[in-house]
Amino acid sequence: MTDRLKGMAGIRISGWGVALPEKVVTNEDLSKTLDTSNEWILERSGIAERRIGGTTSGLAVEAGKLALESAGLEPHDIDLLILATTTPDDQVPATSSKVQHELALTCGAMDVNAACSGFVYSLVAGSGFLHAGCNRILVIGSETLSRFTDWQDRSTAILFGDGAGAVVLESSSDGGELLGWDLSSSGELRDLLYCSIGGKIHMAGSEVFRKAVIAMANSGKASIANAGIAPEEISLVIPHQANIRIIETSLKRLGIPLEKAVWVGDKYANTSAASIPIALAHALDNGQVKENDVILLVGFGAGMTSASAVIKWGEIND
Ligand code: COA
Repeated sequence: MTDRLKGMAGIRISGWGVALPEKVVTNEDLSKTLDTSNEWILERSGIAERRIGGTTSGLAVEAGKLALESAGLEPHDIDLLILATTTPDDQVPATSSKVQHELALTCGAMDVNAACSGFVYSLVAGSGFLHAGCNRILVIGSETLSRFTDWQDRSTAILFGDGAGAVVLESSSDGGELLGWDLSSSGELRDLLYCSIGGKIHMAGSEVFRKAVIAMANSGKASIANAGIAPEEISLVIPHQANIRIIETSLKRLGIPLEKAVWVGDKYANTSAASIPIALAHALDNGQVKENDVILLVGFGAGMTSASAVIKWGEIND
């Protein structure tokens, strides 16, 4: 990344919200129809259960509404909606336009598909739009992966879930900053993880695992270097919630202790572009984010894409 593209001063996440379908599907439930077990899934992935149901736009609207409420904003205050999703309601129009209408937003709206890296891609893009003159941007990650899951395939059915997470991103002078970021794509790896139009998700699990560890570590390193800080200065990591073992191994490579990572994948599984905002909201609601904290968001996904951002948290007024 050139200096020209480095972090832009003055951002703040002023509101957040999460939406999850009510239906809980446990590992035990899956083992009734698949040749698998709770022990196998827990040991290999760290996942215990997932939520299934809803629509991508419906979950996005619910999470978006909560984010607006918690930021104390009205729909007309938002200058842009960015919806990260890999499971849109329709091929055309973009799901974001439906969400814009249902939230009564009076601004532009667009979908971003960078698979599980989509939320971080959208956050970095959102920061750029703040730099270009927007004041407040609603960034949502929303997915209904269950629609594209082959429920007869034990190697993929155990991994995915549905859900949405949203944040309001504002320009600010409270000390919050995007210190560094990194986005990448390796299109030659398409066949490792894909879903053709009208098809179901196909994945070469152990190969994806290996690539994911490298991608998370490399992207995290690049963002930390761009931020001009040392790994020890990272207070909290919000990783993509695909597999606790991927997080463990990649953080080891980054020299960051696992205790600094937020893990909610045990309850919600891999919700693709929704997983990072869901985990971030969890950390915020649990008081894990403190004033002046330096937070690393890092994800990877089909593409294969990877994305990371180092954010300095500003003042906390409550
Ligand atoms: N229950 C029981 N056994 C299973 C199983 C399941 N749900 N799924 C696969 N197996 C079997 C395999 O058939 C294989 O059997 P074999 O040795 O007789 O051939 C064995 O378990 C080992 O399979 P492998 O794929 O090597 O296991 P793994 O330790 O790599 O774990 C994943 C499998 C899918 C959990 C792991 O590879 C993974 O998480 N990969 C990354 C997936 C991911 O994150 N995708 C999303 C990217 S955004």
